[in-house]
Order: sequence, then structure tokens, then C-alpha cells
Amino acid sequence: MMIEPDSSVSEAGAPVPLEARIHQLLAAGSPLVQGTVSLVGAGPGDPELLTLRAVRRIMEAEVVLYDNLVGPDILALISPVAKKHYVGKKAAKHALPQDAVNDWLVRLAQAGKRVVRLKGGDPFIFGRGGEEMEALMAAGVSVEIVPGITAATGCAAFAGIPLTHRDWAQSVTFATGHLKHGLQELDWAGLSRPHQTVVFYMGISAAAGIAEALIAQGRPETTPVAVIYHGTRPDQRVLVATLETLAQKINAEGLKPPALLIVGEVVRLYRPNRT
Ligand SMILES: C[S@@+](CC[C@H](N)C(=O)[O-])C[C@H]1O[C@@H](n2cnc3c(N)ncnc32)[C@H](O)[C@@H]1O
Repeated sequence: MMIEPDSSVSEAGAPVPLEARIHQLLAAGSPLVQGTVSLVGAGPGDPELLTLRAVRRIMEAEVVLYDNLVGPDILALISPVAKKHYVGKKAAKHALPQDAVNDWLVRLAQAGKRVVRLKGGDPFIFGRGGEEMEALMAAGVSVEIVPGITAATGCAAFAGIPLTHRDWAQSVTFATGHLKHGLQELDWAGLSRPHQTVVFYMGISAAAGIAEALIAQGRPETTPVAVIYHGTRPDQRVLVATLETLAQKINAEGLKPPALLIVGEVVRLYRPNRT
């Protein structure tokens, strides 16, 4: 991408308006090539957290396959003449099988379309983007990846919870609470070690089991946990509990997916009002 070094200032020396500057940045990128699939991360929900490249790809796609974590403000960027297809988990109350999505992407690209596969967060974090990339490469289809802000970093930062902090957490782990063979697949001893933050995606339904497993491996019952529902969206909710009270508080508040669990001492830094 080539941007003039002084492109924030016009030839006459006046500041270039924000919209014009953003337009310059978008125009300086390279276009999506026909017959290519772009796996695009849409971020955690707030459209201002899209990358410029994601905006560009969404707007220039001829076909978009999207899933249920992509909100209406972001879908509104799709060209009115483009085809958009919902392949998320709530479609017809069951997920379109992954193989069917892979085949569809391959066929669209082979038909010479500019295709965007639009996913919440980052395509490679619990998003099956890796499987789609493998299928496309195996079929000889050219594929690019546009990174997105993943829910863990996006929702935590937006809520004012630093995932690492020199005093509290020297590492951070992302884990899923939704596993093929149940929670026993996770390394609970590792996840229970002190001085780390653990973020569970898709963990709200399994919250009781997650808390029990961490306590059983030695994480104190008083360890704080934040639950972030619809992070970065207008209806965001943040609930603070401890491992001991987590399941009961989730039930009492009626919190449902999509939500993240952030486990660790850094949650003590959360303040509902920072102004
Ligand atoms: C299938 S995973 C997809 C993750 C996505 N690829 C990413 O990088 O954020 C879906 C889970 O991500 C989490 N998630 C995604 N967006 C979220 C948001 N805005 N607020 C809270 N949790 C979110 C929830 O745990 C949800 O069940």
C-alpha cells in the first residue's frame, strides 16, 4: 500500500478532512481479484472496529457468505447488487455442515466470483477459518485472510479489562468451552496456574463445569470472573462474579451466548464507569 507521506495535508497546506483521508487509505489498497476467496474477520461487533481492508473487501465482494455473529451495521456495507447468504448456526435452526460451506466457497471461486467469507472476530480464532483455507487451497483456489479483532482482546479492552498486567497476569490463554468430547479435553492443570488470564469462548453454557474444574485444580474460589455478553455492541452487558458464584449469577441475570468468560485477577481492574 502506497500512501503519500504528507497526505494528511492538502497541497495548499490545509488539513485533509477525515472522510477524505479514510478514502485515500481505502483507495490505496489492492482490489479483491476475481476467483479469489477472502476470509474476512469482522471484529467483535462495533463496526468501527473493522479494519479498513475488511471494509474494502465487504464493499467490493460479489458474493458474501456470513455467519450469525456479524451484525446488521456491518452487513449494510455489502453492495446492494451482491448476493449475501447466511450460513450461521441459527440458519434453519441447524448449522450448514462445514463441508457444504467449503464446497460452496470453492464453486463460487471457480465460477470467477469475488467471494467474501465473513466471520465474527478473527477468522482463525475458533472460527473454522483454518478448515476453510485448507479446503480452498486443496481445490487450487486462491485465498487471502483479513485478520479481525478477536472477541477476547476486543471485548476485554472495550470493557476496560487488561488481559495482561505486570502485577497480575504474565500470560493469557484463549480456550473454548464447546468441545467435541466435553470439557475433559482441556488441560485444566495448565489453565489453573496462577498469574495468568484465561478467556473462554463459547463457555457460558458450560460455566458451572469450567468453574468446578478450575477450583478442583487449585484456582481459588475467590478468583474473579467477568462475563461479557455482546461485547462492544450497544446492548453489551458485563457481569462480575467469582468462580464460586459464577453459575448462580449467570442464571440469576439470565445471560446467554454469545458471551465470553474472563477468568483471572485482572478482572479486579474492571470499573463500570471509567469517566
Ligand atoms: C464460534 S466463536 C467465534 C469467535 C470469533 N472467530 C472471534 O475471533 O472472536 C463464537 C464465540 O465467540 C465469543 N464472542 C464473539 N463475539 C462476541 C461478543 N461480541 N461478545 C462476547 N462474546 C463474543 C462468544 O463466546 C461466542 O460464543
